[in-house]
Amino acid sequence: MTAGSSAAAIETEGLVKTYGDKRAVDGIDLVIPQGMVYGVLGPNGAGKTTFVKMLATLLRPDGGQARVFGRDVVREADEVRARVSLTGQYASLDEDLTGAENLVLLGRLLGHGKSAARGRAAQMLEAFVLTEAADRQVKTYSGGMRRRLDIAASILNTPDLLFLDEPTTGLDPRSRNQVWEIVRAIVGQGTTVLLTTQYLDEADQLASRIAVIDSGKVIAEGTKGELKASVGAGSVHLRLRDATRRPDAERVLALCLDGMPVQLDPDPFALTARVGAGADGSGAAELASRALAELARAHIAVDTFSLGQPSLDEVFLALTGDGAGSGRTVQEAMA
Ligand SMILES: Nc1ncnc2c1ncn2[C@@H]1O[C@H](COP(=O)(O)OP(=O)(O)O)[C@@H](O)[C@H]1O
Ligand SMILES: [Mg+2]
Repeated sequence: MTAGSSAAAIETEGLVKTYGDKRAVDGIDLVIPQGMVYGVLGPNGAGKTTFVKMLATLLRPDGGQARVFGRDVVREADEVRARVSLTGQYASLDEDLTGAENLVLLGRLLGHGKSAARGRAAQMLEAFVLTEAADRQVKTYSGGMRRRLDIAASILNTPDLLFLDEPTTGLDPRSRNQVWEIVRAIVGQGTTVLLTTQYLDEADQLASRIAVIDSGKVIAEGTKGELKASVGAGSVHLRLRDATRRPDAERVLALCLDGMPVQLDPDPFALTARVGAGADGSGAAELASRALAELARAHIAVDTFSLGQPSLDEVFLALTGDGAGSGRTVQEAMA
């Protein structure tokens, strides 16, 4: 870390990128602190890759400004490049070489001597559980192995800032978990990670702060807790004994919960409702128990009842205005 490391890793003001008359990135203002995984969450086509490429100096902005560790991404592109790495871009793997050969070659290109490059490659292959595959050509690798090798290549020289653009898209659950462990280890060593993802659970698992973007704009930004708080203090899930009473239960809940949206789950017995803090200052738990009492008074039998924090799915639905009982799942909203 250099002097003045209290500065943000990334600051953008009114950042814009247009393709024809399409504003792929449409005026993004963000301050991304150092030393954390920062999640940029958004559906396909939201502008995530375009945003990241401008920060990594691979695309020139059409408007606004961006600084990485205080350096302007256009005027001081070389200084920025010296401190960042982008998975899948700088680290282009040669399919005909083995995993080990790829890493050694890259280490040599980065200026390491032969034995240092070999040593570093072996260390990375072990850390990324690729030792057994080290001497196989990359073209024989599975998607998960390839992704791990790609990330290993991007951190051969430990960058101060690593861009991981959808690192787990298309991976099976096990490979996904391996990549998550790797991301946690990377940030544990002091590298700031900007992670883009379409997966709410991934942002929830890895990121300390999250920006939700849609159509090139930030629609929400904050800690996970803040995002959830903006949607409601809690989320009530309940399952009725009798599915025919669900419309009645929906009415009772809507009345008791200060008009927060009530969602009908795919399961015909189940409802989900967001719970705000009551106008009289009562908390989510009090509101929820009042709602439960009202359901009992209306003779609507409840089999299971739980109160928790809203999930990021619910957060996204609320922020994009699709949460008010439209019945659209987040998978559909993000497809
Ligand atoms: N090179 C390009 N030429 C024209 N349009 C592009 C180009 N790259 C991206 N776009 C458009 O810009 C928008 C944002 O794309 P992108 O940044 O790739 O989104 P994301 O990474 O979130 O899926 C999309 O509508 C996409 O079609
Ligand atoms: Mg993308």
